[in-house]
Amino acid sequence: MTHILYTIEELKKQRATHNGPVVLVPTMGALHEGHLSLVRLAQQIPAATVIVSIFVNPLQFAEGEDLDAYPRTLEADVDKLTAVGADYVFAPSPRDMYPQGPRTTIHPGPAGTVLEGASRPTHFAGVLTVVHKLFALTNCTHAIFGEKDYQQLLLIKQMVADLNLNVNIIAAPIVREKSGLAQSSRNQYLSAQQTQLATTLWRALAAGQQQHTKETILHSAHAILETEPDIKLDYLALRHNDLVSEPTAGENRLLVAATVGKTRLIDNVAVTLN
Ligand code: PAJ
Repeated sequence: MTHILYTIEELKKQRATHNGPVVLVPTMGALHEGHLSLVRLAQQIPAATVIVSIFVNPLQFAEGEDLDAYPRTLEADVDKLTAVGADYVFAPSPRDMYPQGPRTTIHPGPAGTVLEGASRPTHFAGVLTVVHKLFALTNCTHAIFGEKDYQQLLLIKQMVADLNLNVNIIAAPIVREKSGLAQSSRNQYLSAQQTQLATTLWRALAAGQQQHTKETILHSAHAILETEPDIKLDYLALRHNDLVSEPTAGENRLLVAATVGKTRLIDNVAVTLN
């Protein structure tokens, strides 16, 4: 049985009983196979105690975004975590996490202002602040993040390096549907027809991945996106893995963000440049 901790106090009490590695998997819930793959990766660390946090973090949603609509399915989530054998779920309330409301926050560096940061200027400060709090609260030795949110993963690694945090960050590969669509809690917002349309993002990235020059990668991905006028493209970008430099020979990242209906979706793949 996965043990549910609803408050910081309960978390601290339980945390004090564990000496070995403690692996944190931060989530906002509405758990799917992508999240569960992170939990399974956590369990591979020898003698790990695995804590999954479920917290829809108000600080990372801007005015007009989907904070209220975001799916909250704690009971079903706990069932899934019990089935995979996670040790703890930490599901605090916003009041417990932010008794003063937002006050001290963590600002990302330059890599936080591009791509997602350009479209959602306050998003990553909200993410880094809550992740730092979760690291401090759980005193975790390791934390697992998915490459699905590639920029988030990069900024968390930068925060750990820049602020000298004692947490090992482990990256997990993207889990996809059979169609190639990256699993996401926000896929629940899509109708059957929109779900079909959303696979275009993956098809565009996969087409880009077959190419090995800057021009042909972008051209072939754009060609696929243009076949679906109902997809509103925010960006398609080919970047160095640090997301701020120009791409160079070797591995780089191809990233896409687009809106299908009212739902904003992101995805990315590694691409190799000659
Ligand atoms: P959430 O969107 O719930 O994602 C939690 C973790 O699951 C993130 O590390 C994300 O990259 C990973 N993930 C989501 N979909 C995935 C997929 N298809 N394959 C692999 N990993 C996937 O990201 C957040 O929550 C929040 O910003 C959070 C870090 C919890 C801070 O509030």
